[in-house]
Order: sequence, then structure tokens, then C-alpha cells
Amino acid sequence: MKPIWIKHAGQLVTMASDHQSARTKEAMSELGIIEDGSVWLEDGIIVKTGTTLELEHIYTERAAEAEVVNAAGKLITPGLVDPHTHVVYGGTREHEFEKRLEGVSYMEIMNAGGGIHATTRMTREATEEELYNQTKKRLDSFLQHGVTTIESKSGYGLNLETELKQLNVAKKLNETHAIDLVTTFMGAHAVPMEFKGREDDYVAYVIEEMIPKVASENLARFIDVFCEKNVFTPEQSERILGAGKAYGLIPKIHADEIEPYKGAELAAKVGAISAEHLLKSSDEGIQAMAESGVIACLLPATALYLREEAAQGRKMIDAGVPVAISTDCNPGSSPTTSMPLVMNLACISMRLTPAEALTAATINAAYAMGVEKFAGSIEPGKKADIVMWNVPNYQMLQYAFGVNHVKKVWKSGIQVV
Ligand code: NIG
Ligand code: FE
Repeated sequence: MKPIWIKHAGQLVTMASDHQSARTKEAMSELGIIEDGSVWLEDGIIVKTGTTLELEHIYTERAAEAEVVNAAGKLITPGLVDPHTHVVYGGTREHEFEKRLEGVSYMEIMNAGGGIHATTRMTREATEEELYNQTKKRLDSFLQHGVTTIESKSGYGLNLETELKQLNVAKKLNETHAIDLVTTFMGAHAVPMEFKGREDDYVAYVIEEMIPKVASENLARFIDVFCEKNVFTPEQSERILGAGKAYGLIPKIHADEIEPYKGAELAAKVGAISAEHLLKSSDEGIQAMAESGVIACLLPATALYLREEAAQGRKMIDAGVPVAISTDCNPGSSPTTSMPLVMNLACISMRLTPAEALTAATINAAYAMGVEKFAGSIEPGKKADIVMWNVPNYQMLQYAFGVNHVKKVWKSGIQVV
């Protein structure tokens, strides 16, 4: 494998810093920019960054053995990281999109057996191979949008067999596809239809049968629960996350998405690595997250798609909460793979600055899924996950919105786009 030498980046956004945790406040604007930047990649790893002039002093003699890429003034950033997806699913739900536009609510559709239940039926029916192939297309699309690492949740099985099928598909895709996937067990994504009226029995099934099996097969790193009115109560959510923790799974939580439900407070209480959505979180909840260092994983594309007010991203950053952003890629509330669009929306609908949005989509996202040691920044020793954009600076990436500016993508030092 030839070394790759990228030269003359208009801006090389490294995200390098001395911070040892997800970035808050001012640190979210420190992008570690090198003008006329250059980076040397070898064996799939980042070896050296600096100005083009600096790297010419070191590497000119080895230029002949390398593939030299002239970025010609274009922006170079780390590969984007998406810390919250439901990417492994069967079928689609475009008819529900129409229904919602006619005025039926997301929860009404779900309570009538559509929504998550519809996808659960289609995911149960799909063979592992079908699920693999459908998901692979979405991963290809993620790469086209500059995303090189994603989190992937189960939660469309809602029975042991199908939850395992989903997690196994993610595992196989991680092994065979360029994108890195880190898995989350989300058996508590909904109470399946067959347990209607017996919610606590389903909670017991998740705790006693699903979690031990998922943990013993080492199929997930995180555990997540949809803590929402008419789905799982804060008390049930706490029990499920506690049981996961006892098996070594790290808690995440879908919190305060549709209704205020003290989900942010619960995230702080259980020491979740991140809390997701947070559209309706209280000021107390935001404060609790800031104090306990819970990363707010905000999903502005979901808010837009549900035609809801976005989360209070600006307020959270100002309160000292580390913020990450994500597509939430799923067939109901956010059928998108575009992290560039999510960055745009983070600026437009949550008033993040362009620099904060980039931090939220790279290094903070990496922290939210526990991959900060090898992703989220262009620093020596990390994976050579790099994006070249058709724009000269990072502001332009957020300014010219709704456009996919990706020019080239390298994943672990291999050009994949
Ligand atoms: O993050 N809120 C729960 N889960 C997903 C949506 C799942 C679906 O509609 O299929 C979300 O919004
Ligand atoms: Fe989600």
C-alpha cells in the first residue's frame, strides 16, 4: 500500500488539540486549522500533518514512492462521524410521510401499529442477506457524504431473534464495508404489538433474555432506550439501562424527543455517555447534563422532518454541554444519510456556528460513540479517514447549504470516493 501525500489544502482542518474529553464551549471553535496544509498517510494511518512547506522538508525524498495528491486549495477535514443511526432496517415508510403531511401525528401512526411497528414487521420478514444488501446501499451513500464511521442501533426486531439478526448484519457490514460501525443494542425501542398491555413483561424480557444474550455474544458496545410518553417510562428506562450497565453495555438514551419527560435528567443520573434528540428538554435537564458531562447528541434533520422546533443547541453549548450531531438515519423520522445537511441544519435551526457544527460532526461525535482514539480528527496515530471538499474553507461548507460538496474520501488510507 503506497503512502499518500496530500498537499496544498486551502485549509487542513485537523481538530487537533490537547483536550482529553468531548469539547465544550470555546473548545468547540478550536479547529486546529493549517493553511496550505499537508498530511502524510501510511498503512492506513495518519503519520504527519503540517504546512505543505514543512512536509516538503521531511518527505520530498520519499515523494516518488507515494501517491501525491494536490488538493489545490480545497478544504480537507477528518472523515465525518455519525454517532446515532438506525441504519439496519427492512423496507421503507414513504406512505407514512404523506400521512403525516395530511396531519396525522408520528405517535398516532405508531400507536395504530405503523411507525416503528411497521419497520419491525418488515425487518422480521427480511432475511439476513436482504437486510445486509439494503443497509449496504445506505452505507455507500454515507461514504458519498463524507461519513467514515457510524453508530448503528438495533431496535427493529423487538424479539431476540431479530435483534440478533440486526446486530449480526451490522457486525458483518463492519467487517466487509469501508465504513466502521459501532453497535448499540436498542431492544427497548418500542413495546412490540404482541406485548401490548403487558409493557412490564416486555421490559423483563429485554432485561432477562435479550441483554444477557447480546452481551455474551459481544454484539453491542452501547445500550439505548426510547424514553418517551407511551413508550418506556423513565422508571422502566432506568431499569433497562441499569441492567445493560451490569453487563458492560454503556448507556445512551432517546430523551425528550416528542414530549418533555425528564429524559435529560435521567441521562445525567445514570451516567449516560450521550443523550439523544432532547427537543423538549428542560433547563434543569440541560444543567444536569452539563454538570455530569453527558454529550448532547442533537438531530436537527429529525426535528425538521417531524416539523418540530429543533433542540436548543445554542443554549446547551452556552450552558457547557458538549454537543454532537447526527443524522438519526432511520425509515420514519429521518430517512437521510447526509451529515453535511445535518451540519447545515445545526447552524440554521440551532444557531451553532460553522466551526461548532464541524466539531459536533467529527471529534465530539467520535467521543459520543467511544471512537475518539482513532477517529474524529487528523492527528498522527489515528485512522487515515479524510475528506476533500469542493470548497476552500469550512465556513463555505455550512454556508452553501443543501449541497453535497464532497470531492474525495479516504477511509483508512484507501480512496473510496
Ligand atoms: O430516533 N425515536 C425513536 N426512534 C427513531 C425513529 C424510529 C422510526 O420512526 O422508525 C428516532 O427518531
Ligand atoms: Fe434515533
